[in-house]
Amino acid sequence: NKRGFIFDLDGVIVDTARYHYLAWKRLADSLGISFGETENEQLKGVSRVRSLEKILDWGNVELSKDRFNELLDIKNKDYLAYIERMDQDEILPDVLRVLSFLKQNEQPIALGSASKNARTILKEVDLLDVFDVVIDGTNVSKAKPDPEVFLKAAEGLGQVPENCIVFEDSVAGIRAANAGSMLSIGIGDASVLNEASYVFKDFTEIPTEFFSKLISER
Ligand code: G6P
Ligand code: MG
Repeated sequence: NKRGFIFDLDGVIVDTARYHYLAWKRLADSLGISFGETENEQLKGVSRVRSLEKILDWGNVELSKDRFNELLDIKNKDYLAYIERMDQDEILPDVLRVLSFLKQNEQPIALGSASKNARTILKEVDLLDVFDVVIDGTNVSKAKPDPEVFLKAAEGLGQVPENCIVFEDSVAGIRAANAGSMLSIGIGDASVLNEASYVFKDFTEIPTEFFSKLISER
């Protein structure tokens, strides 16, 4: 029995959500726009362009197109400086246990991320080969909560959406999975990810039997 297992990247596979946070915070600070955890939560799963639009909106700041693009570039360079120093230690707890269990059980595995840096990051932590399909920010035109990224991942895996399971740490991503008729599993805070079908604090909280059950269910 095969299902489609689709993983978000930032904050699910690797601990890069904090680097996005640090890079956006530095940028917001430089513009005199206040930026904390609450604001950050709303940027998780959100594309680079849309994230900057939101930050500028919060600060009531309007910029020329050129300056806007310059800031996108500054944020990404700042972010990439963190990424360069990354290694396998930054794979989140028990992610490798889960991936190898799914591999052993011959389950199709995809990445579904809004990030344009996804392949760079997967290479950095030596996980690129684990994914049968990688759909990232360079393959989609509609951002989460639109289900496009996950629908493309499902298609790539040769699975109908109803047979797919999505792991997400963002509200936008859970909404995207739900909108695509997939089973949504939140990784993080249950009060934030309350629209998910299931929520776990992290992968250490998901017993192997949970995955066996998912595999035998359909
Ligand atoms: C993920 C992260 C977001 C990030 C987006 C774009 O969805 O959760 O915080 O803004 O990817 O990432 P990028 O690496 O292309 O700037
Ligand atoms: Mg994420």
